Amino acid sequence: MSPSVLFATSEAYPLIKTGGLADVSGALPIALQDLGVDVRIVLPRYGDLHLRGDQTTEHIARLEVVGQPVDILRTQLPDGNVTVYLVDHPAFSARRGNPYMGPDGNPWHDNPDRFTLFCRAVVMLATGAVNDIPAFDVVHANDWQTGLVPAMLSSAENPKTIFTLHNLAYQGVFDRATFERLGLPWSLWRPDGLEFWGNMSFIKGGIVFSDRITTVSPTYAREIQTPEFGYGLDGLLRHRKDRLVGILNGIGSDWDPKHDPALVAHYDRETLPKKQENKIALQRELGLPVDPNVPLIVYVGRLVDQKGIDLLTQALGKLGARSVQFAILGSGEAHFEQSLRVLAEQDPKRIAVRIGYDEGLAHRFEGGGDAFLMPSRFEPCGLNQLYSLRYGTVPIVHGVGGLNDTVVPLNPEVLDDGMATGIVMDYLDVNAILWAVDLFSDLFADKTALEAVRSRGMSKCYDWVASARAYLDLYQNALKQ
Ligand code: ADP
Ligand code: GLC
Repeated sequence: MSPSVLFATSEAYPLIKTGGLADVSGALPIALQDLGVDVRIVLPRYGDLHLRGDQTTEHIARLEVVGQPVDILRTQLPDGNVTVYLVDHPAFSARRGNPYMGPDGNPWHDNPDRFTLFCRAVVMLATGAVNDIPAFDVVHANDWQTGLVPAMLSSAENPKTIFTLHNLAYQGVFDRATFERLGLPWSLWRPDGLEFWGNMSFIKGGIVFSDRITTVSPTYAREIQTPEFGYGLDGLLRHRKDRLVGILNGIGSDWDPKHDPALVAHYDRETLPKKQENKIALQRELGLPVDPNVPLIVYVGRLVDQKGIDLLTQALGKLGARSVQFAILGSGEAHFEQSLRVLAEQDPKRIAVRIGYDEGLAHRFEGGGDAFLMPSRFEPCGLNQLYSLRYGTVPIVHGVGGLNDTVVPLNPEVLDDGMATGIVMDYLDVNAILWAVDLFSDLFADKTALEAVRSRGMSKCYDWVASARAYLDLYQNALKQ
């Protein structure tokens, strides 16, 4: 019998998205449901949920959570028929925009309170305390915002808990006064609990108390056990390594160049030359010189330190006489946004920058780009290199985390070696980025090798089926203990 699973997350595409967690939360439950799992998502009811016009929400319960009224609404993922419970409280629903920070770019001051409230509501749902919804067999929690759920469910009679680390750099660390204000049991204030160097850590709740810990690629699962990538939690992760496994993310069905409504020309492996039409349309849209013979290298993502944006901007300032075009779409730290804008103003024939969040444009970048650059310092999985493989857009990556697990490196000596799917930088600095740009230009000039690399990438299968099976095995395995 398949277990029933409550999937707790702070974002899920298309309802609310800031990054890859939303893509995973919007796709993995659908793949699990296809395997016969009774899976339901629970998400805060933010002020800005993208509900489709015909999408209804139904009020199903009013709870009292530490003295505060909280409503539970029910809706569905538009594409997959998966039930979504929405935890409705003004701390979420009365605010618009980004789920974690205000318009000034700073985290909401009461994030620990909001997400503790969310975790408490999740626990009530999980344990059968909400109307006639039966208790779940498994709760699958994700990232620090749901880290308290495994801590609150750690006794044996409760559902089993799985905790997925999508990014160890975001830990939800707050001071001791916050812990006291939240009214959590004092038994949790200990080094083998939530306490972290005199502060409280939400993510420790997931790492210490869950029955199984997963992260989103096998390489990242190894890396986080080292001081370099462990952010002070590597010792704890080594201690729990027999419970830790890396399962690669997959690609949702909305990322497919054959059907993508954002593209002017649809294509697959057999009709790859049609990709060029998307490139020309993108060059035109961005105001770059329309020239199919100049390689167009794109970037889409959060403009933060993790993604190596400082190195990217430095490399863009050192292009010299190179005949390439760069297109960048992102939002994030203001100083990165500003330096990218300046670069585009100074070099408008080669550099186009769009600041903001634009789902359709992100698809057009994948469809129209020749290569996709990801100079990430670390990357738990990374989704854009997977989208790039599927779109025949050659990924150029730093060989860390999921990037290491998904891109087969091009051999500079033998451009068509029958194996490569992208360009991998073994180390990361400005020169490495320029080396990779030059290597891509060489590949771009060798049309036979380019087509082989693209077509091989497109043949790789990163759909969710295999990953969903791995999660299901894990749920069943946890239930046996
Ligand atoms: P992360 O979760 O660390 O941000 P991922 O590669 O896992 O990185 O996922 C990022 C997701 O967010 C991708 O689907 C990417 O296309 C999308 N994305 C990031 N920034 C933007 C943006 N400015 N506009 C549109 N989509 C974006
Ligand atoms: C995180 C990571 C990214 C990963 C995503 C989804 O935001 O930074 O590498 O792909 O989560 O798991």
